[in-house]
Amino acid sequence: MIPICDVTEQYRFLKRRIDAAVCDVFAHGQYINGPNVHALENEVAAYLGARYAVGVNSGTDALHLALRALDIGPGDEVITSPFTFIASSEAIGLVGAKPVFADIDPQRFTISPEAIENAIGPRTRAILPVHLYGLPAPMPEICRIAERYGLAVVEDCAQAIGASIDGRRVGTFGEFGALSFFPSKNLGAYGDGGMIVTSRPDLADRVRSLRAHGGRVKYHHEELGVNSRLDEVQAAILRVKLPHLESWLDLRRLHARGYDAALRDALVTPFEPERYRHVYHQYTVRLPDRDAVQRRLGEHGIQSMVYYPVPLHLQRVHAALGHRAGDFPHAEFAAREVLSLPMYPELSDEQRRRVSELLRASLALVAL
Ligand SMILES: Cc1ncc(COP(=O)(O)O)c(C=O)c1O
Repeated sequence: MIPICDVTEQYRFLKRRIDAAVCDVFAHGQYINGPNVHALENEVAAYLGARYAVGVNSGTDALHLALRALDIGPGDEVITSPFTFIASSEAIGLVGAKPVFADIDPQRFTISPEAIENAIGPRTRAILPVHLYGLPAPMPEICRIAERYGLAVVEDCAQAIGASIDGRRVGTFGEFGALSFFPSKNLGAYGDGGMIVTSRPDLADRVRSLRAHGGRVKYHHEELGVNSRLDEVQAAILRVKLPHLESWLDLRRLHARGYDAALRDALVTPFEPERYRHVYHQYTVRLPDRDAVQRRLGEHGIQSMVYYPVPLHLQRVHAALGHRAGDFPHAEFAAREVLSLPMYPELSDEQRRRVSELLRASLALVAL
């Protein structure tokens, strides 16, 4: 079987150092907010080019607490993409605000700046773009709109650590960037984990308080917060992995070039605009006969996934928003056509070639 992702390969590669880092945590005993969490916060901030980073329990918490820190709540609207993982709109709902969807650019799968501008109303407070599959949303355009209308920007970087536009890394364009260290992410922990990045000292201070029960001084609480901590064991593991991230992203990009060359003439391959660095969390193609092709790949032992089969405006959780099929046609069309292929740094060239060959053969068969 060729899996879509294999999270065990990096452990095999780094076993000695990861085992040592974890045992060191067990021995030092500062299991909560320990030295590895602080060190990783500094290392991730430096890697991204942000001033501050604050570890939290997950990418979902990172988005949620970023919105809380901006005082976004009931009566407010936040514009996001309808074609993403549920956490993006869930975080907006969790603070009591209303998610307002703006359709995607069909070539990039990320939110369209034009659609954002059409969705802005008197209650709009923020834009929450998602760097889907590892491709940056068009941040220069989005930031220009945000500035014009006085809106905050919270970047969902869960799938895109290390992606950039003109060398500037995602997470540093808006007020906040939200990272996820979910195990299969490009920088994955061995459990849940997340981080909030910002360059504003007031906002960094606020999220530090919110993640620690709403207080800056122990046993003194100023507001309702949450308990959301990046675990010390996970931070120790991530510190071993972070120095390898760039080489892993380069390998993902090499695989993407290999897939592009093998598939470009047969189907729609991912788009990487000039000056953008796509980090290929997913290598996602478009296929009119997606379901039949996916079945055939599966019969030949090749795993592929559909991210995501139901756009967010059509999810039951958002039924109260009153959307119906046809409201966001590009997102709906993408949900019917996308297929993500095996993609991880340790994938071999041989495996990638086999996926490409079988995909081409499946296309030919399905077309008969
Ligand atoms: C686009 C996107 N946003 C947010 C999240 C939430 O991250 P987490 O699973 O760490 O809560 C994920 C991943 O799971 C994601 O893919």
